[in-house]
Amino acid sequence: MSLFSTRFRDAVTNGTALVQAPGAEDTVMTFARSVAAGLSDDPKWLHCRFLYDAEGSRLFERITEQPEYYPTRTEAAILQAHADEIRALTGPVAIVELGSGYSVKTEHLLGAYAGDGKDVLYVPVDVSASALREANRSIASNFPAVRFTGITGPYPSAFPVLRQLSPQLVVFLGSTIGNFNPGEMTAFFSALSGHMPAHDFFLLGADLVKDPTVLEAAYNDAAGITARFTKNYFVRLNRELGAELDLDAIEHVAVWNPEWERMEIYAHFHRAQEIYIEPLDESYQIAAGERILIEISRKFRLPMLRAELAKHGFRSRRSFSDEKGWFALLLLERLDDRLMRRAPYPTTKR
Ligand code: SAH
Ligand code: AVI
Repeated sequence: MSLFSTRFRDAVTNGTALVQAPGAEDTVMTFARSVAAGLSDDPKWLHCRFLYDAEGSRLFERITEQPEYYPTRTEAAILQAHADEIRALTGPVAIVELGSGYSVKTEHLLGAYAGDGKDVLYVPVDVSASALREANRSIASNFPAVRFTGITGPYPSAFPVLRQLSPQLVVFLGSTIGNFNPGEMTAFFSALSGHMPAHDFFLLGADLVKDPTVLEAAYNDAAGITARFTKNYFVRLNRELGAELDLDAIEHVAVWNPEWERMEIYAHFHRAQEIYIEPLDESYQIAAGERILIEISRKFRLPMLRAELAKHGFRSRRSFSDEKGWFALLLLERLDDRLMRRAPYPTTKR
């Protein structure tokens, strides 16, 4: 058992609310290196994980309340309608949630799993410590029977503890899977599957391809909260990396890419600027009119998504959707590896 796995097991035993994963404390240098990697590339990009400092987490919650941003309320309604059925299919399990944020929607699941004061262990995992603290406050008051031990750190930092949490339901909501490019998604499913014991469950929220006008409205809300979320990336760059950017020259642009079936969120620079990264003592030039890609939000088609999951040993047990077919919640079971390796037809003559 690794040092972190032991520390985590002790935290669960002692009822410690938050545990920091190894490496999670090195945020400024990690941030600086990630920004330098993205700005050295052509075209330039920035990693969306760093959208979520304390202010970014607060702004994301406000995005979820905007009338144009349909994914949160659609997924919440599906969860509310089917939480009892999901609980019946999985039986009593620990709940591990990746990228949990404020865990607002998860309360529907916790209601089903902790009904009648049943003992439930809830392990949210998020890079945003402030979001985990907020979730802990709310869950402690709404569900006193739920044992809460959160992990501060990137998703993979939690994978080594999954084996000790079995039987479990790993939850990944909000279509955050859509913020990965195809290569990142494959690596994520592969790593998650590699750490999950057979017969554990995975609940995945996925936003589906739909009318582009609905999609573009969701990422360009009239109140301008998504624009503030984008701009906050550069507020963070100025504060943590000494970037010295003029924020008035940066505009939020969110457009549908029909070829790749994804929303693309850019920071558009109206004027040429230099981005200084103090911890590395490096500067990057941005031209007037240049766009930096700060986030993608892929939208899915279910057959392709199920096929990708199946490659990693996740078998679909049930799928739930809303009446418009805008969002899907997939309940999957991790197959036994022996079943995975069995060829569909004999490969050698007997
Ligand atoms: N699940 C919630 C929140 C989604 S927002 C919902 O559906 O509403 C995405 C969340 O993932 C944020 O809380 C953010 O801090 C977290 N996050 C983003 N990148 C991450 C990473 N690489 N590792 C861990 N958490 C991450
Ligand atoms: C967290 N994630 C699934 C959101 C999304 O819709 O891709 C992030 C977001 N970015 C702008 N609005 C919402």
